[in-house]
Amino acid sequence: MKHLLHAAVFGLSATGAVAEVSVARGEYLVTGPMGCGNCHTPQGADGPLPGAELSGMLVDQNPGFTAIAANITPAGEVADWSDADLAKAIREGIRPDGSVIGPPMPIGLYRHISDDDLGSIVAYLRTVPAVENDPGKSVYNIPLPPAYGPPLTTVSAPAEGATVEWGGYVATISHCFECHSTPVEGVPDLAGHYGQGGLEFPGPWGVSVAPNITAAEEGIGKYSDEELAAIIQHGVRPAGERMLPPMPYPYFAKMTDQDLSAVILYLRSGPTAPPAEM
Ligand code: HEC
Ligand code: HEC
Repeated sequence: MKHLLHAAVFGLSATGAVAEVSVARGEYLVTGPMGCGNCHTPQGADGPLPGAELSGMLVDQNPGFTAIAANITPAGEVADWSDADLAKAIREGIRPDGSVIGPPMPIGLYRHISDDDLGSIVAYLRTVPAVENDPGKSVYNIPLPPAYGPPLTTVSAPAEGATVEWGGYVATISHCFECHSTPVEGVPDLAGHYGQGGLEFPGPWGVSVAPNITAAEEGIGKYSDEELAAIIQHGVRPAGERMLPPMPYPYFAKMTDQDLSAVILYLRSGPTAPPAEM
């Protein structure tokens, strides 16, 4: 079954290696560090609406666009897509009809998702409860790119461990820098202002601003590892201050210790651009 799914999604990789596709790994990624529900699960007054996980919601409304994250449960449009179609939509932002998925779905960063992790995410999404909900369709007044890059065939991840490299991978697919890079013409500038902060998030909470998370003193340099862990996983600053949405704290709370340590190592290493696609 595992092999069939893998073959259906990706075919055999150039090396002939069989990917490890696992529903448990997919669940960890979707409900943990990748926080898909932070955009795709309808929100009630007390956070994500129970029983409505991943059934779609309005994410962002601004002069450029009204972005509605789709119902990605087996009751949504994706139900009729093949596993390969769903994989391509998540990693390359292209639907089976050829249309391009718009922001803020962080496709530029999702292009780094490894074949194994992508197969695991797709496998998990097929197992979540089907929730009937039609959140509506997005409207983009800004032009969408024809694609987010050349077609991808195979993507690998660095070896898993408490290392800078693995941390770079986890931070990338957790889209930290999609929120924390300075916007230029409304779009986070990953190439020139990686992690330098400034993007504003209006909401029922007022306006939150993503701070600088570079290694510098004005970034995360002023925090200890323990303080950073509390910030990232519990949304609490050292003085006890509760932090504002939309940083997906409850999702990051599920990060393994290894992944969290790796992310902190990566932030401290002072990266100035996303890892190269592999
Ligand atoms: C920052 C918000 C955000 C995050 C995080 C996010 N998405 Fe999305 N996603 C969106 C938006 C908005 C759209 C719709 C864009 C459009 O209409 O063009 C979308 C569209 C999609 C689609 C296309 C569905 C369709 O029917 O057209 C899929 C599949 C999808 N997302 C899967 C995922 C998965 C899986 C994750 C987590 C690994 C994820 N998304 C994380 C915002 C997000
Ligand atoms: C959806 C957007 C979003 C994502 C994704 C996100 N953040 Fe944040 N982050 C914010 C916002 C907004 C704040 C400010 C909250 C406040 O001031 O109350 C913040 C605050 C922080 C802070 C506190 C900085 C300070 O100086 O006080 C750190 C550290 C941080 N984020 C790290 C991360 C890391 C690491 C990731 C990925 C694992 C991440 N963030 C993902 C939006 C985001």
